[in-house]
Amino acid sequence: MKTSFPVEKFGNIETPFYYYDVELLKETLNVALQEASKYNGFNIHYAVKANFNPSILQIICDAGIGADCVSGGEVKAALNAGIPASKIVFAGVGKTDKEIAESLDAGIFCFNVESLPEIYAIEELASERSVTASVAIRVNPNVAAHTHANITTGLAENKFGINYEQLDEVIDVVESCKHLSLIGLHFHIGSQILDMNDFVTLCNRINELQDMLQEQRNMLLPHINVGGGLGVRYDVPDECPIPDFANYFATYAKHLNLREGQQLHFELGRSLVAQCGTLFSRVTYVKSGTRKKFVIVDAGMNDLLRPALYDAHHCIENVSANVGEEIYDVVGPICESSDVFDKDIKLPITQRGDIIAMRTAGAYGEAMSFGYNCRELPKAVLSTDL
Ligand code: LLP
Repeated sequence: MKTSFPVEKFGNIETPFYYYDVELLKETLNVALQEASKYNGFNIHYAVKANFNPSILQIICDAGIGADCVSGGEVKAALNAGIPASKIVFAGVGKTDKEIAESLDAGIFCFNVESLPEIYAIEELASERSVTASVAIRVNPNVAAHTHANITTGLAENKFGINYEQLDEVIDVVESCKHLSLIGLHFHIGSQILDMNDFVTLCNRINELQDMLQEQRNMLLPHINVGGGLGVRYDVPDECPIPDFANYFATYAKHLNLREGQQLHFELGRSLVAQCGTLFSRVTYVKSGTRKKFVIVDAGMNDLLRPALYDAHHCIENVSANVGEEIYDVVGPICESSDVFDKDIKLPITQRGDIIAMRTAGAYGEAMSFGYNCRELPKAVLSTDL
């Protein structure tokens, strides 16, 4: 039985709900910041997409971390939490005029640009306002990260970023735009990456690219943004509550040849918030089939989509029981056969009313919840609220 959750205080809270361990979150942010501060010019922007719960954003803002946003809504959420515009970067292949205009008006630090038409749109809107927009070109580094196909993004031809062959033309265009200032290069190879060699490959690509730009254009840009992607241990949340930030930043420090004065930016999402979050649900029924036993919980794929969408495994624990052992499929109530959290897992003998924890759910959990089947969105409870 897990004793690390204050289950006795959960009494009246309606399930399903996300529970956030504020102490662990703060500790994680501290470790990340401490490790980054060992190197000159390392900056962390939190990838808001991982979790935009206002209380979480507030804690991240208080820690002094910037924001990486992919929509106007995220820019607003970051600003509302108090994150200064000067620490906000805005990426995404489909920024609308409205989103660009509002971000220009807010005075964000940088647009990570991903196509020529987007560059022209930002130029036009900046020109109308007589302001200069800082941009970084998102380069597609063609690195195959060892992670789920749906969350690798750095391969040659996909909707993200600018390919190597088009880079020269894109730089020429940005430089010809009077209201754009090219301040950096942006990369992102994927998410949930635990093999540091993938980041080493990215560093090598960036080094080659920087050498080439220096030789061919005598160009040295002040900012390099390497995106996010550091993975977490979904399999052993208690053994590894805080990701190995020391190794992650050391990998970049060792393998990336930063030029004099260059700033390095990281867009960390999952690694900062995943382990502090747990989805709690209650067992509605235990149903016996002919060969299988199903634990039907009151959380569904609409509350935590990752297992259905990516075949992701979140450790599932029965925090109400510790007697016996049985093999179960843990499923939700949604009318979709993919509404399965895990199959054939061992749990103590489970009964109607037991509380079930799904661990490592702080990233892309609450943030990806939706209202299918007219279900209410899951609530959130902070450890400090109890
Ligand atoms: N920067 C860019 C440009 C990104 O596309 C992403 C994530 C990040 C930073 C943050 O990556 P992180 O540090 O969290 O790995 N919903 C999926 C993950 C999608 C990630 C999308 N991009 C999941 O639940 O696994």
